[in-house]
Amino acid sequence: MKYYDMTRHVRGESLFADDLLVPEGTLFASVFSSSIAHGKILSLDFLDAEKLAGVKKIITAKDIPGQNQIGGIIQDEPLLAESEVHFCGQPIAVVIAETQLLAREVKTKINIQYEELPPVTDAREAYAKGMLIIPPRIFSNGNVGEAWKQCDVIVDGTVETGAQEHLYLETQGAIAFPTEGNGIKIISSTQGPTATQRAACKVLGLPMHQVEVDVMRLGGGFGGKEDQANAWAALAAVSAFVTKKPVKLILPRQEDMRMTGKRHPYSIDYKIGLTKEGKILAYEVTFFQNAGAAADLSTPILDRTLFHATNSYYVPNVKAIGLCCRTNLPPNTAFRGFGGPQAMFAMEAAIYKAADKMGIEVSIIQEKNLLKEEDEFHYGQLAENSKAQTCWNEAKEKFDPGQIKNNIEKFNAENKSVKKGFAFMPICFGISFTNTFMNQASSLVHIYSDGSVGVSTAAVEMGQGVNEKIRLVAAEIFSIDKSKIKIETTNTTRVANTSPTAASSAADLNGKATELACKNLFKRLISFVKNEFNYSPQDKIDFRNENVFCNDEAIGLTWAELIQKAFFKRVNLSAHAHYAVPGIYFDKEKNKGNAFSYYSFGTAVIQVTVDCLRGTYVVDSVKAVHDFGKSFANVIDRGQAEGAIMQGIGWMTMEEIIYNSDGKLLTDALSTYKVPDIHSAPKEIEIHFLENSDNPLGIFNSKAIGEPPLMYGIGTFFALQNAMKAFRPEGEFQFSAPLTPEKVLLGLYKE
Ligand code: MTE
Ligand code: HPA
Ligand code: MOS
Repeated sequence: MKYYDMTRHVRGESLFADDLLVPEGTLFASVFSSSIAHGKILSLDFLDAEKLAGVKKIITAKDIPGQNQIGGIIQDEPLLAESEVHFCGQPIAVVIAETQLLAREVKTKINIQYEELPPVTDAREAYAKGMLIIPPRIFSNGNVGEAWKQCDVIVDGTVETGAQEHLYLETQGAIAFPTEGNGIKIISSTQGPTATQRAACKVLGLPMHQVEVDVMRLGGGFGGKEDQANAWAALAAVSAFVTKKPVKLILPRQEDMRMTGKRHPYSIDYKIGLTKEGKILAYEVTFFQNAGAAADLSTPILDRTLFHATNSYYVPNVKAIGLCCRTNLPPNTAFRGFGGPQAMFAMEAAIYKAADKMGIEVSIIQEKNLLKEEDEFHYGQLAENSKAQTCWNEAKEKFDPGQIKNNIEKFNAENKSVKKGFAFMPICFGISFTNTFMNQASSLVHIYSDGSVGVSTAAVEMGQGVNEKIRLVAAEIFSIDKSKIKIETTNTTRVANTSPTAASSAADLNGKATELACKNLFKRLISFVKNEFNYSPQDKIDFRNENVFCNDEAIGLTWAELIQKAFFKRVNLSAHAHYAVPGIYFDKEKNKGNAFSYYSFGTAVIQVTVDCLRGTYVVDSVKAVHDFGKSFANVIDRGQAEGAIMQGIGWMTMEEIIYNSDGKLLTDALSTYKVPDIHSAPKEIEIHFLENSDNPLGIFNSKAIGEPPLMYGIGTFFALQNAMKAFRPEGEFQFSAPLTPEKVLLGLYKE
């Protein structure tokens, strides 16, 4: 894949938090957590566990030197439970011992007594009980009440979407080192080094300059480490602070699955109204978001749900209501798409149901309502440069859905117990953090005196290839080989006040900051050359392939020689630059504004085959026309698209998180939680890069790619339903994702 870390990854040489060599005397921490979803802690007794050989200490809330609080947006999340527990897996104590095994074993000796209280695990039940984390959020335009009167067809219904486990290959973890003068250095597997620094400072009661966070790379984050890396880093930090020793805390897989939040399950009520020609006039939707026991990132996630309520379509009258419901599940959190996918699933379900009622094809309604350039979203932003129709038209041209339809009809007529189906899935995803202030980044570029370059930014490499993209930016501007450029660890003392690597915008934000820093250095070097060699201001100096050119002729000076000369002439060879996305604002009272810098568009066509005797299925193909802007890292971008599609298919089909009514996670291992493997991958993935696309707001005119293609996976659900419909035309199917083989089977035969 010609990826930055490729060789080291393949050889197993890449270092993750758990691989780092730690100093002698490092201690190991293991987290003792609640076994019930809701209750009061009556007693907590370590018996004589603390006196066992090799056990250093067991810390609880009262050992926290600062505030026992890690809530990032809303202060509702204690680091360690004090008198009450609110979810199964909520951290209560930390055992610190000389070995990891011992720390884990000692937990079985802790005696805890609870007074159990009834847990609430369902979002609608939480809503009925008034357990909202914030007041209802409402995004609206036009007048739905009036619009219903103009509609020829109105349908309504309910849809459900399930949770999703991030299943990053590297589990959560951190190592904390006491530093001189009561400070702490933390190596963390976090997407948000500054957020981790802030959380650690709060619990330690230290100013931010006393806590340094360093991130080498992540073995995947997918949103699960945007906020939820903080707890483990903070616990490691408190442990190190209290014991005055380095402390390593790595979650075993099963604890990670039980203790951390997931993609938010949603329960959604919709009502959609259309003309008899299929033009959507009104859409009303209420999102019951299952936030879990603490706010975490639920509120901005809910906002993105509201932003993406109408997916790729123009709807003149919209009322979208978001309810952030507190339940007794682990706090749910960011996950690739950040609340967008749930909204887009609901919109597609509404269209599907309307088409069913009207007896027309879903794609007729989809196509008729695609966003045009002059259309406005319900929050007031123009769909400027909308590529919704272009992508759709190109998909039609390239994939020939007419032919697909004929083939499928023929196949279905000839086969009794095996049926095929297909669906179109258009997507539209806004690029920018929904919190405007977060759309900033910086970069620190050093050119060393030998001509090699080190770049530090706020971006965290988690497999998505952002380091390679940043390296390409610096290489392009200096016109030097990328082997001369190293992307340094992400570190809060080198680059401060960072936004997390999230919202698909790390390459844009940090790439643009790097572009600015490199251009500053470039300008400095040009004036140095002009001075040094007495060129006139009109002479055109540039660099090509590590050589200096004047008026298109090589002047016999290499990059390395230039840098050395500049150094001896005391030219500043370091630059820092800050980038803030221009032109975005959002009024959170009126819920209107230009929230996004730009949009990512595309259309996919998904084909499936269902074995109607067994309920099993295969995804035959996913073909998409996607707008990458001007991609400058095609292989990475294609890899992101393919990976996201797989993750989206997993969410829609086989990945099923089940909590029992006591709030206990039943699917806490890979034997019970199934993610797509190579056998369940689409037999064919074909992705076309939309041609002639441009995007000055993205780095080097590209478009962000990390999250948007996940939403193509949603089409799989509807393709499966179409195949089911071919088997059982009179069937009334539930819009309840994931559509597991069990649900398919029940749907095919249920009376
Ligand atoms: N790809 C890999 N391999 N690993 C990841 O953890 N995270 C996704 C996406 N692609 C992820 C990934 C998510 S949730 C986001 S927001 C983006 O990458 C973040 O990186 P970017 O801003 O550089 O696209
Ligand atoms: N995406 C990811 N993370 C975020 C966002 C977003 O839109 N807003 C705030 N944090
Ligand atoms: Mo991605 S969910 O914004 O980390």
